[in-house]
Amino acid sequence: MNKTVNIDWSKLGFGYVKTDYRYISMWKDGKWDDGKLVEDNTLTISEASTALHYGQQCFEGLKAYRTKDGKIQLFRPDENAKRLNSSCRRLLMPEMPVEKFIDACIQVVKANEHFVPPYGTGATLYLRPFVIGVGDNLGVKPAPEYIFCVFCCPVGPYFKGGMTPVNFTIADMDRAAPHGTGAAKVGGNYAASLLPHEHAVKRGFADCIYLDPATHTKIEEVGAANFFGITKDNKFVTPKSPSILPSITKYSLMHVAKEYLGMEVEERDCYIDNIDEFKEAGACGTAAVITPIGGIEYKGKLHVFYSEKEVGPVTKKLYDTLYGIQFGDVKAPE
Ligand code: COI
Repeated sequence: MNKTVNIDWSKLGFGYVKTDYRYISMWKDGKWDDGKLVEDNTLTISEASTALHYGQQCFEGLKAYRTKDGKIQLFRPDENAKRLNSSCRRLLMPEMPVEKFIDACIQVVKANEHFVPPYGTGATLYLRPFVIGVGDNLGVKPAPEYIFCVFCCPVGPYFKGGMTPVNFTIADMDRAAPHGTGAAKVGGNYAASLLPHEHAVKRGFADCIYLDPATHTKIEEVGAANFFGITKDNKFVTPKSPSILPSITKYSLMHVAKEYLGMEVEERDCYIDNIDEFKEAGACGTAAVITPIGGIEYKGKLHVFYSEKEVGPVTKKLYDTLYGIQFGDVKAPE
């Protein structure tokens, strides 16, 4: 019999929901084991695990989408696998074969199929793969053992209101160093963002914009998401920097802008002093999808792009096309 769950999909935000199964694989003696689905949502690890002391851990985020005909599809899981491996290399952790990563995601989605929100609700099943260094260890060095896990939660919009514009301010701290771990999806970057995020929220903003850590003149990230702007002459522009997390959604939007909307696309410096070059702006990422940026507070002034209340037309088209591809309503690129 098909299982059902009692969830009001339309009320879902971006929060933890315990689902039935997660996938676990252990790396020991130089190799990953076969991995399996388990029901227990807790991990028992050594108190001396490097993940706990030295931040030796990384994670990913991707989603499963229910299409109109009831099928379920993942969006570019191979890209998440590659990015996880690039984070693993940065922290001297063992890589996960791409096929094993994708197979783990598929197993988790299938086992929790009843948690994949129905088509039309806008909600999705968010998958959170991660690798952590575990085992007994005291000195600052790579762990003797690792755990790879994938769990999932049904989610709604990351920022309350979804496709409604929100305002941001400039962060009063950095999330990453010039040659640090900014381009890796590691917990330390997110830990570093908690305090500036709280400062921004206390001042009435949704989150903060991080400037480049070396000169503080260029936009890098929008909270836990990437930045894009639409110039007055209709170009899709997004910052280029070695300390930005390479967002899969951002690269997908660059493709959508170029191939579906016929726009010119530029990955280049976006100077905060030149913020008014943009007529629209947004934050993008797996969790946020696209969140339109109403305005950015900079040097005591709120620079409004399209509107603080309404979504700009280009942002809307980008969103509709990407959303359409993700939910199977628009033909995906070959
Ligand atoms: C994502 O967009 O998937 C993220 O990882 C952002 C955040 C929830 C950490």
